[in-house]
Amino acid sequence: MKDLRFTKLVLFVNGLVPLALLLWDLWRKQVGANPLEFVTRTTGMLALVFLIISLAVSPLRRVTGLNWLIKFRRLLGLFAFFYGSLHLLTYVAFDRFFHLTTIPGDVLLRPFIAVGMTAFLLMVPLAITSTDKMVKRLGGRNWARLHTTVYLAAILGVIHYYMLVKSDTSRPVTFGFILALLLGFRLLVKYYKAPPVTSTSIVPPRQ
Ligand code: HEM
Repeated sequence: MKDLRFTKLVLFVNGLVPLALLLWDLWRKQVGANPLEFVTRTTGMLALVFLIISLAVSPLRRVTGLNWLIKFRRLLGLFAFFYGSLHLLTYVAFDRFFHLTTIPGDVLLRPFIAVGMTAFLLMVPLAITSTDKMVKRLGGRNWARLHTTVYLAAILGVIHYYMLVKSDTSRPVTFGFILALLLGFRLLVKYYKAPPVTSTSIVPPRQ
């Protein structure tokens, strides 16, 4: 596999661009009438987008045969977790004003918060076990099994989004559709086995 260090660096810098733009917009006060909502929504959207992109890596790799794409999946997943953490932080800071004791009550009161929180909590073990050392420690099979929960986290992320939009559901529905395609592809690869090659299906070479 070719040396991808530079490409990874480019991806890393690009992953930080949305954050830089957000900070820039905040600095210039170009964040609308409700800056707190703007920041919460932007970070939530970024978490979901990075999660979906990270899930698209494997199907893309299979379809294109570009095996090196897999090398970027971890970084993309970590960006999803990073923006998810910022999203949680903005909620704790601007919605709860750091009164942590009010969070359980809010989780019970607003189901979309409960769903978002569950999605985030599912992402925590994935981020913790993302290092090479942890992959080795868990063993490839266990690691892969654990990491299938990323789909559940993404599904809950989409449901969370769907639940919080008031009228126009087209965006969360679009995310749901893309996610269904990615999941469908994965299931197809897992359960569809190409029929075995039999002697009758082998065409003898022409003499
Ligand atoms: C950590 C627990 C979470 C909490 C407490 C939380 C809370 C919130 C809140 C308060 C909003 C703004 C709602 C509004 O303005 O009406 C929001 C929006 C959003 N959140 Fe979360 N969220 C959490 C986790 C997540 C996760 C894990 C994802 C994605 C995987 C996510 C994706 C989104 C999206 C896409 C939006 C809407 C963005 C938009 O309107 O453009 N959230 N969340």
